[in-house]
Amino acid sequence: MCLPVLPSSPNAGLAMGSDSWQILPMTPKNVILIDHPLIQHKLTLMRKKQTSVAKFRRLLREIAMLLAYEVTRDLKLTHVKIETPIMTIPHAPVLEGKKIVVVSILRAGQGFLDGMLQLIPSARVGHIGLYRDPKTLVAVEYYFKVPKDIQKRDCLLVDPMLATGNSAVAAVDRLKEVGCKSIKFVCLLAAPEGIARLHEEHPEVPIYTTAVDKKLNDHGYIVPGLGDAGDRLFGTK
Ligand code: URA
Repeated sequence: MCLPVLPSSPNAGLAMGSDSWQILPMTPKNVILIDHPLIQHKLTLMRKKQTSVAKFRRLLREIAMLLAYEVTRDLKLTHVKIETPIMTIPHAPVLEGKKIVVVSILRAGQGFLDGMLQLIPSARVGHIGLYRDPKTLVAVEYYFKVPKDIQKRDCLLVDPMLATGNSAVAAVDRLKEVGCKSIKFVCLLAAPEGIARLHEEHPEVPIYTTAVDKKLNDHGYIVPGLGDAGDRLFGTK
């Protein structure tokens, strides 16, 4: 289900045709491509320009839930004694209790929250407000609010689009500034440029994505992408 173990997936390389628009077989180091068929199907529906705002929002929530399942795969378990109606189990597995914070990069990151919190209901939530200067594409911070004990939590930093990587780098910089040690970046689509930029600055941060698209266009949009995730999520265009 998780790459890089590409050959294990029956659908690996499916997108590779003569006009390849994804770079599946070249998934870079520390990038985990979630190629589950349900996710890939839903992602295609999200990419379609005819998809309504309501449907786009629902699909993003569903994918976020499935992603939450994948990105928490390495959570540690401990064992406790429990009684079932039938007998005692001396070593039943339960989560060790490492705490999670989901940090949303505003505004499109909000689309991930519901789905993730449905699966991890006790997670805390942080927000980082960043906008892209349309001329320079540089990330400018306008809001930052995270839980006080964020240093003790595993952080899932969420933003549907890893495009230039500027917002992701700025967000990880800020999280490290406040003492975050364990950060995973979770997105829907990544551009090679964004992956390179984030890993140039923060190589230890794993990037979970459902697709690596071909490139960025001159306006910093992912190609073929799905357009402006915030606009499609909130119907602002
Ligand atoms: N942000 C988006 O919403 N879409 C892109 O393609 C790039 C950045």
